[in-house]
Amino acid sequence: TYVVTENCIRCKYMDCVEVCPVDCFYAGENFLVISPEECIDCGVCEPECPAEAIFPDSDDRAADWLEVNAELSKSWPNMSRKGDTPADADEWNGKTDKKELLSK
Ligand code: SF4
Ligand code: F3S
Repeated sequence: TYVVTENCIRCKYMDCVEVCPVDCFYAGENFLVISPEECIDCGVCEPECPAEAIFPDSDDRAADWLEVNAELSKSWPNMSRKGDTPADADEWNGKTDKKELLSK
């Protein structure tokens, strides 16, 4: 599976949802996740993310986030069309230590 990681928080560009062939993205207030049960590992979302927040689960950078994606994808609503990106998304792109800001 592919995994959405920390830099998505408060960026939430949503370019990723537009390209997923199986619509397996789920959205919270300021973060998106991928359902590991539904992702078919096609990889097309990875280069679409302007925040470079998506990695395959084989990548070390995905390690802390696989469980978060698995858990939240069970309770958040599905999202298959891009909505409005936060106005300050670009200001949050690249900021570190955003994990505590994740709204669940
Ligand atoms: Fe969807 Fe493919 Fe990305 Fe998995 S890897 S979330 S199937 S676009
Ligand atoms: Fe997040 Fe990147 Fe998608 S910032 S919403 S994973 S395009």
